[in-house]
Amino acid sequence: MSNAPSQSAAIGRLELVEYPHPALARKAKPLAQIDDAVRDAVAQMFDIMYEAQGVGLAANQVALPYRLFIVNVTGRRGVGEELVFLNPSLSRPRGTAVQEEGCLSLPGLRMDVRRPEQVVLDAWSLDGQPVHLDLNGFLARVVQHEFDHLEGRLFTDRLPEAAALEARRTLASMQEVFSGRQARGESPSHDQLVARLDALEAERCVV
Ligand code: NI
Repeated sequence: MSNAPSQSAAIGRLELVEYPHPALARKAKPLAQIDDAVRDAVAQMFDIMYEAQGVGLAANQVALPYRLFIVNVTGRRGVGEELVFLNPSLSRPRGTAVQEEGCLSLPGLRMDVRRPEQVVLDAWSLDGQPVHLDLNGFLARVVQHEFDHLEGRLFTDRLPEAAALEARRTLASMQEVFSGRQARGESPSHDQLVARLDALEAERCVV
């Protein structure tokens, strides 16, 4: 981008954010450039994902408003393949599968989620190469879960009515904890969080 805002939106040190951080409900924007800060963010995201024993992590979950997610289906550093997908799109959903899911941004909540069994993923790798994968099984599930994050959607948005009611109770108590922290000044206000997301977006996205 040619006219970056004068107020720099440094990525800095990233942390996992939990519901209802506004980054999680926000539709992420395509990255217009891959710079050192983005590469550093990806490295931090792998650290955070392994630390939290996850198998996938979307940029929204570390309060970055970018269309980017990472996956390692083994969840273990040094085992399996580390995948990074930038500006992804999904197509050709086929079949149906139900499997229990959890989310690092919704700790303690695990529920059965119905999704297409197979899906085609098109994206870019971190070194700018096009990626085209026809996915099935667990990797297809993880990719769809992470892609949902980029759309501002959580797995709790895909539950049948009875399960959604149950999930809503957990979400309400998380909301209460989050608001309480803000009210005590222990975490930034909603407006401050959104202002940072706006600045990060203006710095690296096609607006
Ligand atoms: Ni998740």
